[in-house]
Amino acid sequence: MDGGRRVLSNVIHSQVDLHREFGGVVPELASRDHLERLPHLLDLAFAEAGAGPDDIGLIAVTRGPGLAGCLLVGVGVAEGLAASWSRPITGVNHLWGHIYAAMLARPDLEPPLLGLVVSGAHSDLVRMPGHGRFEVIGRTRDDAAGEAFDKAARMLGLGYPGGPALDRLARTGDARRRPLPKPSLPGLEYSFSGLKTALLYRLRDLGAEAGEQDKADLAAAFERSVVESLLEKLDKCLPTRGEVARRAGGGIQEVVICGGVAANTLLRQRAAEVVAGRARLTMPPLELCTDNAAMIAAAGFYGGSAGPTTVDPSLGWD
Ligand code: KG4
Ligand code: ZN
Repeated sequence: MDGGRRVLSNVIHSQVDLHREFGGVVPELASRDHLERLPHLLDLAFAEAGAGPDDIGLIAVTRGPGLAGCLLVGVGVAEGLAASWSRPITGVNHLWGHIYAAMLARPDLEPPLLGLVVSGAHSDLVRMPGHGRFEVIGRTRDDAAGEAFDKAARMLGLGYPGGPALDRLARTGDARRRPLPKPSLPGLEYSFSGLKTALLYRLRDLGAEAGEQDKADLAAAFERSVVESLLEKLDKCLPTRGEVARRAGGGIQEVVICGGVAANTLLRQRAAEVVAGRARLTMPPLELCTDNAAMIAAAGFYGGSAGPTTVDPSLGWD
C-alpha cells in the first residue's frame, strides 16, 4: 500500500482447492499452507508493486480473530521481516480490516460511519465514530450469516465453499415458491440457527422427491430470509427519507457493508434499495469483500505505527 488508500498490489492465494475434499477448512492444513506460501506471495507482492524491502515503512499483520495456527504463522513471518529489515510492525484486528476495505473502494470515505460486517464468523453492526474506534451495537446470538450460508449449502449438497455456490443456485430459484421464515429478534440482535433448522426440516419433508428446482427455490428462500434479516436491523439504525429531507436524520451519512457475505448478489441489490436516499452506501468490490491483505495494510496504516502483535484467536472489536 502507498499510504492508507492506494493499493499497489493485493496478491491472494486461495486455499479452496486444498480444503474442498474435506468439505470445510482443516486448520492444520491451513496453517501449514500459510507457511509454505507466504515467502513466494511476498515476492509476488513486491514484483507487482514494483517495490522492495527498502520501500517498506510499516508492516501490518493480522493478530485476530481467526484460526490460531494461521495467525501464528502470519505474526511469526511478519516479526521476522520486521527484525531483519529493521522496520516497525503493528498488529491488526481482522474485523477492522473488513471496514477499511470499504475505504480502499471509496477514497473520500471517512468516519463517522455505520458498518455491517458479515463474514464466516461475524454478523456485527458497528458504529465507527473515528479512525480506530468501534462500538458494537448488534451481533448474532448464534450462527454468523456466512456460517449459515455455508451450512445451508452443505444441506443442499453444494459442497465447499458454500456461500458462493448457494448464491449461484439461488439465482435460478424463486423464493416465493418455498418460503422460509425470516428470523426476527427484538432490538439489533441476529439469529440464524432457527432458519437453518427450518431448511433442514423442509428438505427432510421433501426427502428423495427434492428435485433441482426445489433446491434452487429453497436456496433462494434461505438467501432472502438471511438478507432481509440483515437489512431489517440496518434499516432500524438509519434515518427515514423524510428525516433526511428535513435534515433531522441524527447523523448517519455513511453506511459500509463488508466481509465475505457482502459479495452476495441479493444482499448487494437489496442493500442499495434499503439505503438509497437515506445515507451513502459503500460495499467493496468482490475481491475486497472476502479476506485480503490490502485491507489489513489499510487498517494498520490508520491504527498507528505500533500495536501489539500478540495473537488472539477470539479478539473482539477492541
Ligand atoms: O470475510 P470472509 O472472506 O472470511 C472470514 O473472515 O470469515 O468471509 C467468508 C464467508 C464464508 O462464510 C462464505 O461462504 C461467505 O463469506 N461468502 C458468501 C458469498 N461469498 C462468500 N456468502 C454468500 N454469498 C456469497 N456470494
Ligand atoms: Zn474476514
